Amino acid sequence: MQLPDYKEARKRNKEVVEKEYYSIDDSIINIGLNKKYYVKTYGCQMNEHDTENIKAMLEQLNFTEALDQEDADVVILNTCSIRENAHNKAFGMLGRLKHLKEEKNKDLIIGVCGCMAQEEKVVEEIMKKYKYVNFVFGTHNLHHLPYILNEALKTKKQVIEVFSKEGNITEDIPVKRANRYKAFVNIMYGCDKFCTYCIVPYTRGKQRSRDKDDIIKEVNKLVKDGYQEVTLLGQNVNAYGKDFNNDYNMENLLEDVAKTGIPRVRFMTSHPWDFTDGMIEVIKKYPNIMPSIHLPVQSGSSKVLKLMGRRYTKEDYIKLFDKIKTIPNVTVSTDIIVGFPSEEEEDFEETLELVNYCKFDNAYTFIFSPRKGTPAEKLEDKSTLKEKEDRLHRLNEIVNKYFLESNQKMLGKVVDVLVDGPSEKEGLLCGYTDTNKLINFEGDSSLIGKIVKVEVTDAKTWSLDGKAK
Ligand code: 5AD
Ligand code: SF4
Repeated sequence: MQLPDYKEARKRNKEVVEKEYYSIDDSIINIGLNKKYYVKTYGCQMNEHDTENIKAMLEQLNFTEALDQEDADVVILNTCSIRENAHNKAFGMLGRLKHLKEEKNKDLIIGVCGCMAQEEKVVEEIMKKYKYVNFVFGTHNLHHLPYILNEALKTKKQVIEVFSKEGNITEDIPVKRANRYKAFVNIMYGCDKFCTYCIVPYTRGKQRSRDKDDIIKEVNKLVKDGYQEVTLLGQNVNAYGKDFNNDYNMENLLEDVAKTGIPRVRFMTSHPWDFTDGMIEVIKKYPNIMPSIHLPVQSGSSKVLKLMGRRYTKEDYIKLFDKIKTIPNVTVSTDIIVGFPSEEEEDFEETLELVNYCKFDNAYTFIFSPRKGTPAEKLEDKSTLKEKEDRLHRLNEIVNKYFLESNQKMLGKVVDVLVDGPSEKEGLLCGYTDTNKLINFEGDSSLIGKIVKVEVTDAKTWSLDGKAK
C-alpha cells in the first residue's frame, strides 16, 4: 500500500526526469476476457485524455467497453479536485455504486483515480468509509493500472497505490481516442506555479516537459491517421521546456507542430506570466495555429492577484491582452474566480472593469472554493457566501453580454468549421470555428470530419447558427 503525502507532493527538486516506456506482462493480458469496463470522467481535458489512456490499457487486457455502470464488471472514476463540487459529484457517484454493488452486482470492482486520489484526506476517507472501493491509483502511476487492477482482482483486498512524488515520464501508453478528428496531446505534466488557491501542483506534481521528438512523432502519426486538429495540453503550456537544459521552448514547439501540416493546432492552458512575444509572432505566422487563446486572468484587482500568487498585475495582464489582440481575428477566453478570501467590493468592481475592457469572447467563472493544504485555505475570508453568489451573478450578466456581442459580430460572415457530427438540434450538424465558437448548421453528413465553409445566419449567447456554403 502506498498513500498520498502532501509534504512530499509540495517538494520541488532538481532531479533529472527520466523517460520510461510502458509495457505489460503477457501473464496479465487476459484478465479482462469476457469482462466489461466503464470509466466516468470528471474535470479538465487532461483528465479526459488520461481516460483515453485508461480505456486503451483496459482493452489491452481484453476488457470491452460497457454502455454504463450497470452493464460493467469494473467501474473506474477518474476524479477532479479543483473545487468542492467536483469532489461532491465523485462521492455521490461512489454512493450510487455502493447500491449497485450491494443490490445488483456483488462482484463489481470499483476503482478511483485522478486528482482526488492524490489527496491525503480523500484516500483516508476511502479507506475508512468506502471499504467497497477495490482500488485507488494516483495521477503519477496511471501506467501501473494493469498491475493494480490485477492485484485487486486476485487479492479481493483494497489496493491503494498512490505515488506522491511524480517520478518519470512514461511514453508509449496506449490511447483510445474519443474523437476521430480531434486529438489531445500532452506536452507537459504538472505545474510549478503554486497559485495560492490551486490544488493542481499537489495533485499533478512538478513540471515535466515531454521530449519534443516524442510530441512531434505523436502529431505526425495523427496527421497520417487523418486527424484534423490537435490540442496541446498542459497545466501551464507556455512554460513548456523551462525544465530542459537547452533553449527549446513553447515558441519552437508551436512552430514545429504547425510545420507537421496538421490542419488545426490549439493549446491550453496559458499562464500570462510565460506568454512571450515570440509565441504571438509564431501564431501570426502559421494559419494552422488557431486564433483562439485561453488566458485565465482570475481577478482584475492587483491586490487580489498578488495574494493569489499570480505574478502579474492588472496592468501587466492588459498589456499582454492588447498584444494578443494584434493577432488577426483572434478570440480570447478567460477564467475568473470571485469571492477569493481577501476580495472586497472594490476589488470585485475592478474585475468588472477589466471585463468591460477586455470584452472576453468566452469566460469560465467560479466562486472560490477553499482546497485543503493550499495557502489560500488559511486566509481570512472577507465576503459571505451570499456576497460571493451575488458577485458571480453580476459577473455572469456582464460576461454573457459580451459573448453575445462577440457572436453577433460574426453575422453574415463565412467561417471555417471543423464538423464534429450531428448537432443536439435535430437535423443539423455542429462543429467549431477557427475561433472556437460552437456553430449548428444545415449541411450533409458527408461533411463530418472535414473543415468546411459555413455562413453565419444567427448569433446566440452560447452558439451560432449557419448554413454550409
Ligand atoms: N476555487 C475556485 N476556482 C478555482 N480554480 C482553480 N482553483 C480554484 C479554486 N480553489 C479555477 C481557476 C482555474 C480553473 C481551471 O479553475 O479559474 O483557471
Ligand atoms: Fe481537475 Fe485540475 Fe486535476 Fe484537471 S488537473 S482533473 S481540472 S484538479
